[in-house]
Amino acid sequence: MRRQQEETPEYRTEIISAIRQEEAGTIQAAKLIQAGELVAFPTETVYGLGADGLNAEAVKKIFVAKGRPSDNPLIEHIAKKSDVRQLWRKIPKQAQLLMDTFWPGPLTLIAQKSDCVPDEVTAGLDTVAVRMPQNKTARALISKSGVPIAAPSANRSGRPSPTTAQHVKDDLDGRIPLIIDGGSCKYGLESTVLSLVGEPTILRPGAITREMLAALIGEVRVAESILKPMQEGETAASPGMKYLHYSPNAEVIAVLGNPEQTAKRVLALYRKAEAEGKTPEIAATEQTKPFYKGKRFVVLGDRNEPETLCASLFSALRDMDERADMILAEGIPAEDEGLAYMNRLLRAAGFHVIDASQNG
Ligand code: TXA
Ligand code: MG
Repeated sequence: MRRQQEETPEYRTEIISAIRQEEAGTIQAAKLIQAGELVAFPTETVYGLGADGLNAEAVKKIFVAKGRPSDNPLIEHIAKKSDVRQLWRKIPKQAQLLMDTFWPGPLTLIAQKSDCVPDEVTAGLDTVAVRMPQNKTARALISKSGVPIAAPSANRSGRPSPTTAQHVKDDLDGRIPLIIDGGSCKYGLESTVLSLVGEPTILRPGAITREMLAALIGEVRVAESILKPMQEGETAASPGMKYLHYSPNAEVIAVLGNPEQTAKRVLALYRKAEAEGKTPEIAATEQTKPFYKGKRFVVLGDRNEPETLCASLFSALRDMDERADMILAEGIPAEDEGLAYMNRLLRAAGFHVIDASQNG
């Protein structure tokens, strides 16, 4: 269950609807960006917390508002493909094809940075991550601001990424001046992050899958830390990997196996938790719903359409966290979009995994 600390608000956080007033909202937001202030805005993946990506002082405010460690670099968001030229020293050979195919969309590409990118954005690295979002409001905001917008997800550091304006308000009320409300995010998980420095390597899986990338540019590696906790002494390919992520206050347990095995083990864990005086709740799937009659559960989506699970995971974790102190969440095979789902779920669970296909 959630516990929020009281704090003195610095701003009266305003929410503007992009559906009713996109033009007015993006004009007001662009003025704030140009003045070195922060704005939360919708993208097709999750909500971003943006600042002028060429202004070091503005970018520093992002880390303060989120409580983000300063060694975790940000993504620069651009409104047209050619804007990448000012941010990268040169365009890597596979990049043009990737940009032509997947931009605008949920793919972030990493290459050597140019001198105009402040160290505050890249956390001192000599590479920079760039993405051109598909969301129309996001692109209107970037165009009107006239600068690339540096933006992480608009959550307090460590919390699940926000997929509605209300989630952003829950985390950042009083800490930022403006949220543009564009409704629920289409994908619900953050973009795929692909490094083009050396062998193409996925540092964070997302809706653009390894299979889709490999079909276009040949072999694509997947960073080892995607489904495993970082080992002590290991250096993170992507600094974001080493932090506790997406974690509700409730204890999260991921249960793996086929639908029937999974449901049976989930029910056993549920009863045990209740007997111990806990309040468990189940993150279920269409396939297992019939097993959970009379129990507290939410259906995330269909196991055969992993994108439906991706779209509701973060939102469901936030909701369940309001009611439950234990979340029993079903895992799926880590293939195609299932890889992104399992990457986020395992982190939310602090790698507490139970394999229901094994006895005991
Ligand atoms: O969908 C998204 O990507 C969202 C929306 C708002 O665009 N943004 C987002 O940003 O998820 P953030 O900051 O929460 O995640 C960025 C990830 C982090 O894991 C960070 O460590 C990694 O990208 N990253 C950024 N720049 C990097 C770099 N130069 N080298 C390696 N990893 C980098
Ligand atoms: Mg984030």
